[in-house]
Amino acid sequence: MYKDTNCGEPRESTAGSLITVAGWVHRRRDHGNLIFIDLRDRSGLLQVVFNPEYSEAAHELAGSLRSEWVVQITGKIVRRLPGAENPELPTGTVELSATKIVVLNKSLTPPFEVSDDIDVDDNTRLKYRFIDLRRPKMQAMLKLRHRVTHIMWDFLTENGFTQIETPILLKSTPEGARDYVVPSRVHPGQFYALPQSPQQLKQLLMVSGVERYFQIARSFRDEDLRADRQPEFTQLDFEMSFVHQDDVMAIVEELYLKIFHELLPDATVSDPFIRLSYTESMERFGTDKPDLRFGMELTTIIETAATSDARVFQAVASSGGTIRGFVAPGCGNYGRRDTDRLTDFAKSSGAQGLVFIALDESAPSIDALEDDHIKSPLKKFLSIDIVKQLANEMGAKPGDLMLIVAGTYRLVNTVLSNLRNEMARRLELVDENDVSLAWIYDFPLFEWDDDLNKWEPAHHVFSSPKAEHMQYLDTDPGKVLADLYDLVCNGQEMGSGSIRIHDKDIQTRVFGVIDYGEDEIQDRFGQLLTAFTYGAPPHGGMGLGLDRLVAILAGEQAIREVIAFPKTQSAVDPLFEAPAIITDQQLEELHIRVVMPEN
Ligand code: AMO
Repeated sequence: MYKDTNCGEPRESTAGSLITVAGWVHRRRDHGNLIFIDLRDRSGLLQVVFNPEYSEAAHELAGSLRSEWVVQITGKIVRRLPGAENPELPTGTVELSATKIVVLNKSLTPPFEVSDDIDVDDNTRLKYRFIDLRRPKMQAMLKLRHRVTHIMWDFLTENGFTQIETPILLKSTPEGARDYVVPSRVHPGQFYALPQSPQQLKQLLMVSGVERYFQIARSFRDEDLRADRQPEFTQLDFEMSFVHQDDVMAIVEELYLKIFHELLPDATVSDPFIRLSYTESMERFGTDKPDLRFGMELTTIIETAATSDARVFQAVASSGGTIRGFVAPGCGNYGRRDTDRLTDFAKSSGAQGLVFIALDESAPSIDALEDDHIKSPLKKFLSIDIVKQLANEMGAKPGDLMLIVAGTYRLVNTVLSNLRNEMARRLELVDENDVSLAWIYDFPLFEWDDDLNKWEPAHHVFSSPKAEHMQYLDTDPGKVLADLYDLVCNGQEMGSGSIRIHDKDIQTRVFGVIDYGEDEIQDRFGQLLTAFTYGAPPHGGMGLGLDRLVAILAGEQAIREVIAFPKTQSAVDPLFEAPAIITDQQLEELHIRVVMPEN
């Protein structure tokens, strides 16, 4: 070993000992005769002092050290002089009095400082990711991520799960995104598809009698990227046989509570998890991923609103749409600029417009509202009685702002749920110490796709219709709910799962609703259907986004902050400069001719 002690270890109790450390020069300060450096390794920082009285040669070499040089230093641990301690550092009461230094490697001046306070664009950070990862925050992230998977491995092993790797070179395993494909050299014109998840494989493993499988599985999806999406990401993927929905939920709940309690001990975590049916979640929050750390629930006010003289309300009501809204507490004094901004925000989510009714705080009560207390662009079409009634239905008080959107149920919900999150942000309603974990269950099995003009699976094709809804499968698919559940944390989808179909006939009927042709079914799902005819046990499971979980634990918004080598928003790796063109020879071997787009 080049070292016998880690930089972060020495304490007053080890003063007097002779040690050798090795690491990176974090900072150097020349104080006339004395030269100080902070030496950094994975365990932290140690101050090293070079005094020519102890070693002239070491002192001289120390004068030439630069940031990020790699060195090995031998010396004696001594107590720092009174007043020279650094309470910020765990090693801050001692320093290493150097007698020998060996430069193991030099470094160019790094493109940015190895410090948590840097202001560098993402591209540069990713291009020099090997330096970026030296920053204490990133080192902590790597360890946090490791601890999360360690807890998962231990917990699942104790609970009888077996970790099994599944192939990466496979055939399309659809999860609703485009596939990444890999050309086959030995089978000209044929391609493997990288798994969007190990879904069919884990179901096959249940037919294989594994009963409890898990994998920290890499998944690949060619889809539009966002802060919470990467083209390759990691899931905790698991599957269990002979279980009902509650059994799957119980395992996840125990595991996630363990992770949050161990890794975020000061957080307030929902225990037990909140449970909301999909319908209730849509009714109360307008989304299937509600942030439950604050209120501002939605109310449907179509009956009252439609009796007003407002054309927009009447038109939406007569065309079968809905009118819903929520109350922004204490925002009754919003001026034109604020309401214009909210309107623009609502429009960016697809709304035609946003109706607001501001109630002046000087009104003694809702019943005592007078004309002067009300501000709204629709004021002349809303009688005072209607405003009072709306305020009572929505739970508004004097001083509040009522935000109302009219349109189709889907659009109104999208706009209001986005607006609800935006208002929570503006009003700082979220306690960052809160972790709200919720199960959303009883999702519809299918959703109507207007573009394709047909039913599509709401999650994926393998979810089991609820037994009591099987009767609607062929006649009224929109009515069929499934044993399908999502785990939602602080307004983000953390995972999705279901009890699966394990019967070939039911699976075939579901394919029928989605209008898959016989050939397509055989091509994509033949192996699973065949397996179902050889004794498939009832089974269910889940895929849980690991990157999203670690991001929440680390307090990060973007999952690229918790992935060692992530891709940019445009799916590029700036370090390797991937993707890249390949040589003509490789193309030839793969029997591929590239046709570039015209522009
Ligand atoms: P699903 O497609 O919902 O389900 O994915 C499971 C979870 O993985 C995370 N996730 C992502 N994280 C980062 N980047 C992405 N591009 C990305 N896409 C998804 C989310 C999501 O909830 N096979 C099913 C699971 C099952 O039914 O067992 C599946 O993959 O947190």
